[in-house]
Amino acid sequence: MASKPAERVAPTAAAAGDAASAATAPAAVSVRSMRAEDEAAAQALIVSAFRDRLGLAPDAPFWMVHTNWAARRRYLQVSLIAEAPDGDILGCILAGVWGTAGFFGPLAVDPARQGKGVAKALLSETMRLLREVHGAEHIEIFTFAESAQHHMLYLRSCGLRQGFLSYIMKKSVPAPLEQQESTPAAPSPYTTLRLRDLRPAARADALARVRALCGRAALPGLDIGIELSAVEHLNFGAALLVYRRPEEPAGADGVGEEADEGELVAAAAVHCGAAADSEAPLGVAYCKIAVAADAAAFGELLAALEGYARSEGCQDLQAGISLARTSAYDAMSAAGFKISGIGVLMSSPPPGEAAAGATYNRRDVFMISDMR
Ligand SMILES: CC(C)(COP(=O)(O)OP(=O)(O)OC[C@H]1O[C@@H](n2cnc3c(N)ncnc32)[C@H](O)[C@@H]1OP(=O)(O)O)[C@@H](O)C(=O)NCCC(=O)NCCS
Repeated sequence: MASKPAERVAPTAAAAGDAASAATAPAAVSVRSMRAEDEAAAQALIVSAFRDRLGLAPDAPFWMVHTNWAARRRYLQVSLIAEAPDGDILGCILAGVWGTAGFFGPLAVDPARQGKGVAKALLSETMRLLREVHGAEHIEIFTFAESAQHHMLYLRSCGLRQGFLSYIMKKSVPAPLEQQESTPAAPSPYTTLRLRDLRPAARADALARVRALCGRAALPGLDIGIELSAVEHLNFGAALLVYRRPEEPAGADGVGEEADEGELVAAAAVHCGAAADSEAPLGVAYCKIAVAADAAAFGELLAALEGYARSEGCQDLQAGISLARTSAYDAMSAAGFKISGIGVLMSSPPPGEAAAGATYNRRDVFMISDMR
């Protein structure tokens, strides 16, 4: 994982070269790295900004309250605070890279201090860090599909353009049936393991295989290993690894996990609602990101996610999917997932301009990604 940016205090970039913004920008906004002691204030600000945006009363029940969003600071490469000269926290943002694929969110500005260039200051520094320090070659975010404000903000401050719709998909997970007499199932070539259950020496090897799988099946340079490590090390949920054995038994000269379990054909980071600081609401298992080699491996991965949700007592399984990934979307629909939310992806380079093979938003890429 790349190191966090050095502690720095940068004068606002919000108004730089932008006379219209300068007229309304606060006298001075500093952008600096988020610290552990900022987490509680950042969390409160995120919740209040989204409550305000959604028109919810301060005491109305709200699912975002139950996630500690600032906990992303503990593993993502970028977390920033916008601060007034008197030390008041005005806004915050969290961002990271999955290999060469950058993303950010949540971004939030104190409702009483909006419309004054605070978000633009945070975004300017975030884009610089993602590109120049952390090597992001393309950046994608998920935002409100219907909000002119958000579309303009991301277009004008970051050069991100509207792309594909993205659905939050949800499937009800029935409780396990009482033990019943059943005919023994045919032997399956698939085995699902958890990253944390591998021998220490095999974990690094598994993460290298995840990186290779991402590059082969989705996008060269993509690496979701950071999310897999985070769910296990920070106890957000589980990192699932799906292996497929070849039809013929492996030769006696095979070595390590690969020889025992077969080829790694899918990997997923799934949050569990019961886990402290996870991003899943209570009772929900939420697949944040996953990649599979092909349709068969994706089907096996969906089954493994459902099995995990059931084993944790979750009633719902959620996962985000870009509609550009038609084959994966169709597979999820066929497996019983329903649409429970709609957002839009905005990206740079723009979706229509990405060279063939230079984006993971393609028809036959079997990938789940939820950028909430
Ligand atoms: C979205 C949010 C972060 C913006 O913060 P902010 O500090 O008010 O934004 P800024 O003042 O820096 O940027 C204003 C820009 O937004 C855009 N904008 C604002 N209001 C707009 C409107 N009514 N129509 C079109 N564009 C609008 C413009 O691009 C404007 O810049 P410009 O005037 O130079 O073009 C803030 O409103 C917020 O916290 N909302 C709730 C949480 C949220 O929605 N987070 C993002 C989820 S993806």
